Amino acid sequence: MSTLLDVRGLDAGYGDFQALFGVDLTVREGEVVAVIGANGAGKSTLLGAIAGLVEVRAGEILHRGEPITGLPAEAVVRRGIALVPEGRRLFPSLSVEENLRLAAALGRPGPWDLDAVYALFPVLRERRDIPATALSGGQQQMCAIARGLLTNPELLLLDEASLGLAPAVIREIYATVPRLREQGITLVVVEQDIGQALQVADRVCCLQEGRVTLEGRPAELGRERIREAYFGTAA
Ligand SMILES: Nc1ncnc2c1ncn2[C@@H]1O[C@H](COP(=O)(O)OP(=O)(O)O)[C@@H](O)[C@H]1O
Ligand SMILES: [Mg+2]
Repeated sequence: MSTLLDVRGLDAGYGDFQALFGVDLTVREGEVVAVIGANGAGKSTLLGAIAGLVEVRAGEILHRGEPITGLPAEAVVRRGIALVPEGRRLFPSLSVEENLRLAAALGRPGPWDLDAVYALFPVLRERRDIPATALSGGQQQMCAIARGLLTNPELLLLDEASLGLAPAVIREIYATVPRLREQGITLVVVEQDIGQALQVADRVCCLQEGRVTLEGRPAELGRERIREAYFGTAA
């Protein structure tokens, strides 16, 4: 499998604050990679740096072998890398479909159009004319994923899709992961919840206080080592 994304020795942060220290992450075509870590570990910062939203201080990010470090967010989207941000960030004053149409205009051509995302999430078609914020939490997450898909990504970065949702809704959202992968989409899935992420992941990367503490295949690493890398040895 060829390497789709290669993050090497990444330092990133905000003003005087450094959030990531020498982070390495390799994502191969067709994989689902889970990045797990406690609140504040640097997961969103890592996705933000890849997406061109957070300043990179050192290291590099390669997409299909080409450096994309420091590219503006729009250019990263046009290369086929889409971020589904934590907290969904839908435009509250716009309808579901208006939110989706905006995304389609930013992306690149490909198989994902309104019909395709409505086929994946039929409830969005039913509710397409209501304000995005009138959707339930789970439906807002579906809308945020649909928005990412409409840019026709080959790599989807999913930041805490499960946040604030009931277990049944989380399962419904995660049930789409294998379907996306069948469509040829590679995924990086960020979660605080270890269980859900490990179920869908080929490989897992644990972040703790801005550093990678463990990386590998979940089955080979075992739950205990993963828990330790997640919580630290004190836990
Ligand atoms: N916009 C910001 N400005 C300053 N510090 C931030 C900002 N966003 C995140 N941080 C800090 O960076 C660290 C990593 O945050 P984040 O990447 O959001 O962690 P996670 O997504 O794993 O919860 C935390 O200490 C957080 O307080
Ligand atoms: Mg986060």
